[in-house]
Amino acid sequence: MRQYHLGRALAQAQPNIALVKYWGKRDIRRNLPETGSLSVTLEALWTRMEVELDPSLEADSLSVDGRDVPELLPRVSRCLDQVAGPDRPRARVASETNFPVGAGLASSAAAFAALVVAASRAAGKAHDALTLARLAGAQSGSAARSLFGGIVALDAGQDEIAVESLCAARDWALEVLVAITDRHAKPVGSSEAMRRCAETSPFYRYWVDRQSADLGAARRAVTLRDFASLAATAEHNCLKMHSLMWTSRPPIVYWNDATIGCMQAVRELAAGGCPVFFTIDAGPQVKAVTLPDETARVREALAAVPGVLEVLHSTLGGGARLLETA
Ligand code: DP6
Repeated sequence: MRQYHLGRALAQAQPNIALVKYWGKRDIRRNLPETGSLSVTLEALWTRMEVELDPSLEADSLSVDGRDVPELLPRVSRCLDQVAGPDRPRARVASETNFPVGAGLASSAAAFAALVVAASRAAGKAHDALTLARLAGAQSGSAARSLFGGIVALDAGQDEIAVESLCAARDWALEVLVAITDRHAKPVGSSEAMRRCAETSPFYRYWVDRQSADLGAARRAVTLRDFASLAATAEHNCLKMHSLMWTSRPPIVYWNDATIGCMQAVRELAAGGCPVFFTIDAGPQVKAVTLPDETARVREALAAVPGVLEVLHSTLGGGARLLETA
């Protein structure tokens, strides 16, 4: 009879926020990104994922914050097959999150990064961080970056991605404020939105062709700790990505009035000399990146924008890690 490693493991990962965005796929089946991206991994927001392999189970199960979510199960099962092998025992998977899920806060990035770490340990595998990043990225492209901490670069090769941390969290004290403007799940998921942009936005090719220039500029800014240059590249890159969405057919608009209010608030602070810039993902929340001395001022300005429900704050943090095993 075949012997399995039967284990239980709990892992934690934090979401990451892209400053040069991943938006478009080279290979949809393998979920390979068309271009590279660059992100910061957060500290204060987290997802914890527990995986228990149990041969007495007939099927995998998944609960998110105590609620069964069968609709998300196929992707989780696929991920478990890739990490632990398709003939693995069935698994009980439970996740817990301390921030809104599915609202443009990279919840899937944190979830799959934590899942691959927990599943790998539960199955007794010894995958290294890059292998785990590739396995997480196969489910959700941005998840590959949450395996690493600080400022993270993802390079898109023809067949494989490469991911590395460019700068540890302690080496550049960037701070991130997240203005929550809507807690509902987004109307169009990232995969579908990317497909629509690639197929219908007249600017998609231009976007792809310019990504390596933006990545080069952002990498240089990180090496030099040049906040102003990182700010200029990140805001431009974000607005280009949203322009693809706006020019798709039918268009995709994730923003609301408060999203625009927050962008204006950040622009006003920056015009007054405050080191701050915004970025926005596939959702209506606005992420402002600043330096420690300015955090209180930026937080206050965002909280004063009509329609802002809450402002979350985070420093940069480490990559996905194991919390316990049994
Ligand atoms: C706007 O990683 O959620 O946050 O690979 O289809 O799961 P899939 O997409 P996902 O897309 C993230 C898009 C983004 C930009 C980014 O994080 O780089």
